Amino acid sequence: MKTSFVLAAVAALAAKASAACFSERLGYPCCSSSDAKVEYVDSDGNWGVENGNWCGIPDPEPTCWAERLGYPCCTTTTTVEYTDSDGKWGVENGNWCGITGKPVPTKTQGPTPTSGSDPTPGSQLTLSGNPFSGVEFFLNPYYVAEVDAAIAQMSNSSLKAKAEKMKTFSNAIWLDTIKNMQQWLETNLKGALAQQTGSKKVLTVFVVYDLPGRDCHALASNGELLANASDAQRYKTEYIDVIEEKLKYYKSQPVVLIIEPDSLANLVTNLENTPACRDSEQYYLDGHAYLIKKFGVLPHVAMYLDIGHAFWLGWDDNREKAAKVYSKVINSGSPGEVRGFVSNVANYTPWEDPELSRGPDTEWNPCPDEKRYLEAMNKDFKSAGIKNVYFVDDTSRNGKKTDRTHPGEWCNQTGVGVGARPKANPISGMDYLDAFYWIKPLGESDGTSDESAKRYDGYCGHATAMKPAPEAGQWFQKHFEQGLENANPPL
Ligand code: BGC
Repeated sequence: MKTSFVLAAVAALAAKASAACFSERLGYPCCSSSDAKVEYVDSDGNWGVENGNWCGIPDPEPTCWAERLGYPCCTTTTTVEYTDSDGKWGVENGNWCGITGKPVPTKTQGPTPTSGSDPTPGSQLTLSGNPFSGVEFFLNPYYVAEVDAAIAQMSNSSLKAKAEKMKTFSNAIWLDTIKNMQQWLETNLKGALAQQTGSKKVLTVFVVYDLPGRDCHALASNGELLANASDAQRYKTEYIDVIEEKLKYYKSQPVVLIIEPDSLANLVTNLENTPACRDSEQYYLDGHAYLIKKFGVLPHVAMYLDIGHAFWLGWDDNREKAAKVYSKVINSGSPGEVRGFVSNVANYTPWEDPELSRGPDTEWNPCPDEKRYLEAMNKDFKSAGIKNVYFVDDTSRNGKKTDRTHPGEWCNQTGVGVGARPKANPISGMDYLDAFYWIKPLGESDGTSDESAKRYDGYCGHATAMKPAPEAGQWFQKHFEQGLENANPPL
């Protein structure tokens, strides 16, 4: 996620201010001081946040990475006996030591390591039924750090208290580039695994979001892979295959995958009018077939395919087409299976909007809120013979009707408010609604309002879009604060 914009500048600063640190080899700058606030710890080291970006906290000198793990640094040997994600290990006096490249004074020896400090997955978990039910939701440490940085910019104490509450709710982790996938997938799987004790299971929700030709009908979230054969191959081998390998390893914990927001909905409505969607079609279809085959056979993983939202596919003719497209896609991934569908990702459509009913105001859309949309989709998808029809609705930003004058407005809407909290089986009588969950992290922008930017989309310049807005995924403090103020139910 969202790391690139000041990377170079911060890295240059950090290089002056501190010695090299562990995060540079992972593509992240060093924090400017070894006293930086620790926001997150993983097996690579201690992470801080500066200027809205992750940075690695350098160890105070003189020391070495192995000391953090309770082992000394090697003083003379440079012979590598074992390598893991922490670094290279040697042995001195019958004990493990960390090889740093520069000898340091001998320190008290730590215990002999067994197999390193990472938790080891237990036996294979097989999900049965709703994956959100009966589990604890993992808290996304990156989001907690973003909110901490946001709180540091606030002076109003009631707003700060609301922001503090945001840190107690779970939201999804976006794997929106190959690099972010490498950085965040395993780290968070490991973090969730470490929290599983006894029979407690900890659920992590990831967004798989890197299709070739991504965001074909808009510009704001165009991705790194283009709609061509070689990028499609990279999607498979450098992205999907790597995710599969990690998921196979972390097999004792529940995982939900939110699949490729907006992609199939664009195939339902935008093939005729948008050449970029036509160019992407084969890669979207092939990509889905590939990933469903791979992830859809993993017993501890549940997938939900994105279905836009009420004011996208809610019309009768769109729903009819959608049933065809989605059943074809699901069949193409056989024997892999999907659990269901996810709606309203990164959108603002309210769960219920009793003022609206089919008529000129809704442009004759019979499904003018998320509830009515899912009721209709449930019927249509079941009649189309789709085997598993369950839903998740993104309620991170739909607590209040925003100021948009048209429900097609999707970019950084003013009047935004946090919606229902993440919860399994939230509505009685809708047994096909698995969960309300927060998928788009409130406070992360939908797209830049800078007209000269490559990914500038006109929607982000419209009257009801809040401005000035940073690039998609970057922190947008004003939007965050407004979302807190307007939360419904209140925070
Ligand atoms: C952006 C992604 C980002 C996600 C979550 C999307 O609009 O394109 O880069 O990770 O939102 O904020």
